[in-house]
Order: sequence, then C-alpha cells, then structure tokens
Amino acid sequence: MALGNVIVLTHPVIHTKLAELRDHRTVHRRFRELLEEIASLMVYEVTRDFPTRDQQVRTPLETMTEQVLARPVTLVPILRAGLGMAGGVLRLLPEARLGHLGVRRDEQTLEPIPYYQKLPPDIAETEVLLIDPMLATGGSATAAADYLERAGVRSMRFICLVAAPEGIKTFQLHHPEIPIYAAAVDRQLNEKGYILPGLGDAGDRIFGT
Ligand code: PRP
Ligand code: URA
Repeated sequence: MALGNVIVLTHPVIHTKLAELRDHRTVHRRFRELLEEIASLMVYEVTRDFPTRDQQVRTPLETMTEQVLARPVTLVPILRAGLGMAGGVLRLLPEARLGHLGVRRDEQTLEPIPYYQKLPPDIAETEVLLIDPMLATGGSATAAADYLERAGVRSMRFICLVAAPEGIKTFQLHHPEIPIYAAAVDRQLNEKGYILPGLGDAGDRIFGT
C-alpha cells in the first residue's frame, strides 16, 4: 500500500520491545512497562521537527543561545488504551498538558462511540499528540481527531503502536493532513476487527480486564 503520510519507526530497540509486547505470554505488568518504554522512544522521533525558538542561557562560563520547544504540547490519549502510553510520553515531555477523549468500539458494528471529552482550554494554541496503541478500522482515531479539530486544534500528530492498512486508509481519507506515526503496519483486520498479527486487545492486556 502507499503509505502517504505514515511514518513507520523501524528502530531496532523499538522492535525488540514490540516483539516482547506482542508475545501472548507477556503479562500485564511487563506489558505496561514495555508500552511506556516504546512510547518514550517513539515520542523522541515524533517531536524531532517540532518548532523551536531561541532561548538565552547563562552557563557557568558564558551566555549562549539554545533552541527550545516553541509551543506547549498537549497529549491526548484515547481512553482506555491510550493511557498506557501516556506515562512514557510524559517522561520526555513532563510539561505537557493532558486532554482525555473516551471512545470505545461497538463490538458488533465496530463503529466508534465517543463517551468522554475533557481538553485543556487553550489546546488550540498547542502542538497536539493524539495517542492510542491500536489503529484498526480507524474509527476511534478518526472520531478523536474530528473532535480535536472542532475544538480548534490546528497542529496534530497521531501516534500508534500497530496500524492496520484499513485503519490507515480511513484515517487518511478523513484527515489527510495529520501525520500517522506507527511502530508497525500489520497485515490486515480479522472478521472481528482485530489486527493480524497484532497484539490482541490492548486495553485488556494493559488493564487485565
Ligand atoms: C481499542 C483501541 C482503539 C480502538 C481501535 O479500543 O485502543 O481505541 O480499539 O479500533 P478502531 O481503529 O477499529 O476504532 P477499545 O474500543 O477496545 O476500547 P478500550 O481502549 O477501552 O479497550
Ligand atoms: N483494538 C485492539 O485493542 N486490538 C485490535 O487488534 C483492534 C482493536
């Protein structure tokens, strides 16, 4: 498939951790650790070209100009599973604000059902990182990005761990301007909307439900 604005992060450290995360034997505690670690590694790459501004710094020896992030960052996990990545992102961006969007899939129709929204009031003035480990049909991520755009967000990146070609297509159809960062693009969805080979139900594996 043509990937368009999908950036696949093929770093060997990310994929070593992803292999363990996908493994059906990986227990909740380790799953959570790995998810946070991968999120940290991904956000390092995702923010690589964030806008910067000059900042004067007085070192013990001289005054110099350093480059610092120009705009505040807002992290928006899609509940529930996006929460599993939030700690890892915040480790690198501890000043970030946090918004929350609750979206769950109807198990029969696979349609997204938004159920909770809470965003920082000045989100429109910030760089937004929308996070969810799974991009399957693309319904949840599309609904979340729709909501953020209606809230005035103009600069947004979507970060997921595993994306299905079907979800990429749907998301790009609705939001061609939003880059998708993924650790892996998997083969396809099964008849129940699960990603193959995937990693199973991310929310259940994080929270032990
Ligand atoms: C999972 C996952 C995504 C969504 C992806 O959430 O975390 O949000 O499915 O599927 P889609 O691309 O087909 O919309 P789920 O609805 O299972 O809710 P949960 O995070 O609360 O478990
Ligand atoms: N949501 C998940 O958690 N896993 C999938 O494979 C698809 C949707």
